[in-house]
Amino acid sequence: METTMTLLRDPGAAAPQRRRVLVTRAIDPAVIEVLRAHVELSLNSDDADWSQLELIERLQGHWGALVTVGERIDAALLDACPELRAVCSLGVGVNNIDIAACTARGVVVTNAPDVLTETTADLGFALMMAAARRVGESERFLRQGAWTRWSCDFFTGMEVHGATLGILGMGRIGQAVARRGALGFGMPVIYHNRNPLPAEMAEPLGARWVSFDALMQEADHLVIVLPYSANVHHIVDARALGLMKPSATLTNVGRGGLVDELALADALGAGRLAAAALDVFEHEPAVPQALLDRPNAVLTPHIGSATRTTRRAMARLAADNLIALAGGSDPLTAVNPQVLG
Ligand code: DGY
Repeated sequence: METTMTLLRDPGAAAPQRRRVLVTRAIDPAVIEVLRAHVELSLNSDDADWSQLELIERLQGHWGALVTVGERIDAALLDACPELRAVCSLGVGVNNIDIAACTARGVVVTNAPDVLTETTADLGFALMMAAARRVGESERFLRQGAWTRWSCDFFTGMEVHGATLGILGMGRIGQAVARRGALGFGMPVIYHNRNPLPAEMAEPLGARWVSFDALMQEADHLVIVLPYSANVHHIVDARALGLMKPSATLTNVGRGGLVDELALADALGAGRLAAAALDVFEHEPAVPQALLDRPNAVLTPHIGSATRTTRRAMARLAADNLIALAGGSDPLTAVNPQVLG
């Protein structure tokens, strides 16, 4: 007997017609084809930058959205798009999505953990090394045709192997950075996290939990991979920077809002910190002039997860989440699973 009455949750409710899904940015065409087999798609094939108003207009009548870390999904948008039931992001960080507002309205949110862990850790490590060994600065010097002679103190930087690696935020990406440092470069690892890792995870890395202040004081190279929330806004501020060794470096692959960028630029300019490497900024894509002016800052445009393989995997996970929800199943990586029932 066919049943039409037993659905306990809305996102997967048996649909008389295919769900309509808006894909807000251009993503891997192979993933689009996978999605197309399950839902009705609206695309942004030109990868245009939509204003918030345009995003709201385009979302009208859509049940689901496949979004990136660039779209703002807030209460006003949700109220203006009452048919929206599923927001599936291809990013792991969800600070662009008001999770509480989604939960209050029964909108399922999913993200894309795991698939980008190693790739983002690769970039974090690369940036840390670039800052320590002055790669950006010396490359610019060479390109400017300024290289005329060699000397013993020519672009001398800081040692990486054997130096103390400090990690702020010891989640999946933090642990992957720690593995690179401990196992590949013989670096003693210290970290600060809300909760210390279980011993079976910390011991193989020789990773030692320390207080926030001790992390700032003891790290030779600090790598920030903390998820952003209002509680940790500017957690690395002028006071925290003041605790760091003048020979230390700071790398941020978490979110820009974790670091007070102007205080960082001051510290770099005054020689209170040797170098920094930033892949994320508080008001992306804007980068403060004070940072652009610092030769000892390596600056990249939020490319932590940017390899073709990983970007495809991120999009595929978001698509799989949408497909599961559209078919009445639980998604693989719900951020607010309470909405599911
Ligand atoms: C994420 O997924 O949060 C990353 O920052 C995107 O590259």
